[in-house]
Amino acid sequence: MTVSPRVREVLSRLEETRWKYYNLHPASGEVLALLARVSRPQRVIEVGTSNGYSAILLGEAARESGGQVVTIERNSHVAAEAQRNIAEAGLQDVVTVLSGSAYKVLRDLPGPWDFAFLDATKQEYVGYLDRILPKFASPALLVADNLLSHEEELAEFRERVAAEPRLDATILPIGTGLLVGVYDQPPSEPAHAERAAVALNEVLAAVQAPAR
Ligand SMILES: C[S@@+](CC[C@H](N)C(=O)[O-])C[C@H]1O[C@@H](n2cnc3c(N)ncnc32)[C@H](O)[C@@H]1O
Repeated sequence: MTVSPRVREVLSRLEETRWKYYNLHPASGEVLALLARVSRPQRVIEVGTSNGYSAILLGEAARESGGQVVTIERNSHVAAEAQRNIAEAGLQDVVTVLSGSAYKVLRDLPGPWDFAFLDATKQEYVGYLDRILPKFASPALLVADNLLSHEEELAEFRERVAAEPRLDATILPIGTGLLVGVYDQPPSEPAHAERAAVALNEVLAAVQAPAR
């Protein structure tokens, strides 16, 4: 994805320590950023900030559409690091880091959300989803990481997503496995389904394009 030189510099620095901070795989980051770009979100929620790598990707995309990102991190030291990295990337007016436990913060935030990214405690994904779904705009995009690396821990989450009639999701075998879902209400509204299909096709075409 094309990002500003300032953002690229921060992302490259963070990629050097990505194992320490459990950052998203860069290939998954590309897809996340492309999805955020094509869906032009206004209100993005991220669960699991770490040092802000994925929040910067989401923030850069949201800036283009005049949107805002809220990201939640329970470790206050790591949240402070994220805040510094986000400021260094020049995204402090777009991305808000909230330090606290996701369940509580999600309960207190009003929404609505039109884009959600889950990347925190795997056993809690169902709980995050339960708190985000009622505040989803329609349409909205749900992205979650680690579906293939943590298959067992995320089995219940996968079942929950599959059982939700307003969610149409697939797992992309990129990085550690990225779930991408479109939330729509009612599920059969053609304009929304069509837009979601176009967005997904753009992302898949970009992923399959030869590396530059
Ligand atoms: C995999 S890392 C996030 C990586 C980040 N999304 C990125 O790609 O740059 C998971 C983070 O979620 C945080 N976390 C885990 N459970 C949480 C919870 N219940 N509430 C808030 N943060 C949580 C952890 O402290 C950790 O920093």
